Amino acid sequence: MYKILEKKEIAMRNVWYKIQAPHVAGKVKPGQFVIVRAFSNGERIPLTPVMWDAEEGWIVLITFIRGKTTMKMAAELKEGDYILNVAGPLGNPAEMKKFGKILAIGAYTGIVETFPIAKAWHEIGNYVTTLHVTFEPMVVLKEELERAVDSHIVETVPIDPNLDFPTNMKNVTKRLTETVREMLEKEDYDLVFMVGPAGDQRAVFNVVKEFGIPMKADLHPIMVDGTGMCGSCRVTVGGEVKFACIDGPEFDAYQVDWDVLIARSGYYTDMEQRAMQEYMKAIQGGGE
Ligand SMILES: Cc1cc2nc3c(=O)[nH]c(=O)nc-3n(C[C@H](O)[C@H](O)[C@H](O)COP(=O)(O)OP(=O)(O)OC[C@H]3O[C@@H](n4cnc5c(N)ncnc54)[C@H](O)[C@@H]3O)c2cc1C
Ligand code: FES
Repeated sequence: MYKILEKKEIAMRNVWYKIQAPHVAGKVKPGQFVIVRAFSNGERIPLTPVMWDAEEGWIVLITFIRGKTTMKMAAELKEGDYILNVAGPLGNPAEMKKFGKILAIGAYTGIVETFPIAKAWHEIGNYVTTLHVTFEPMVVLKEELERAVDSHIVETVPIDPNLDFPTNMKNVTKRLTETVREMLEKEDYDLVFMVGPAGDQRAVFNVVKEFGIPMKADLHPIMVDGTGMCGSCRVTVGGEVKFACIDGPEFDAYQVDWDVLIARSGYYTDMEQRAMQEYMKAIQGGGE
């Protein structure tokens, strides 16, 4: 059982959980993830340790409230409560070496996963610029990134104030690709890295490849066990089948079959929407 030491909403639909998890805090490296099962009858979801302290034994996870599990965690878990399982660290650490000048991009909550990698790249002597593109009320880790890297840029798109879940994602994609193009035109980068929805990763990759710059992408297909057993996180990279949980999550963007990845990411949308609607009905009706 993993005690929640701190829980707070840090931006619209973004929740910060500081959790006692010494076995993860003692071993985790930037780029790795954990699989969390918060409730006894709940699904297992992959999340990224954003910060950690090996001596004190805690990790910080930040969740974007997206569907049933992240919503139930936000609604039902309180400081002092316990999370059932935190398995990990899983996946391969990000490649840590001197690349030179790096542009590390996070779209939406992707900045959360970008944070530990960008910070570590800066610490070993790379010149790191981070770019966060998201909706206006969803900016997170701004001060932390300003302290952690050489330059941090935030680009936001406004949302309709009557909506609690923005829908104009195309505006974010447009801002993202325009900003990346401007940045690549102005400066020479040795590496571009990105975490975010697969459609946005592909849109950015299409810009980056015009400039011929190496690009790495952290891929986030559906994961269940996180250990290479279930096959749900299958991706095609360099014409071969890979499992993002054990072969990744970081891959060479030039080798990724983006069409397959994007098609597979929509497989469970109907089921996920149904699960969320049923959960909303249950909490509005007072039951589980
Ligand atoms: C390696 C990795 C690290 C991640 N780190 C973070 C993080 O630090 N913070 C964060 O907010 N999100 C992170 N995610 C995404 C996170 O796992 C999903 O947001 C979460 O599973 C959504 O669950 P849900 O029930 O709330 O939504 P659902 O309704 O179940 O799903 C909504 C969408 O989330 C994605 N998703 C759902 N289940 C999974 C799953 N098991 N594996 C991968 N994607 C899924 C799909 O795109 C889906 O369409 C990460 C994903 C991966 C693969
Ligand atoms: S999550 Fe099951 S094989 Fe990767």
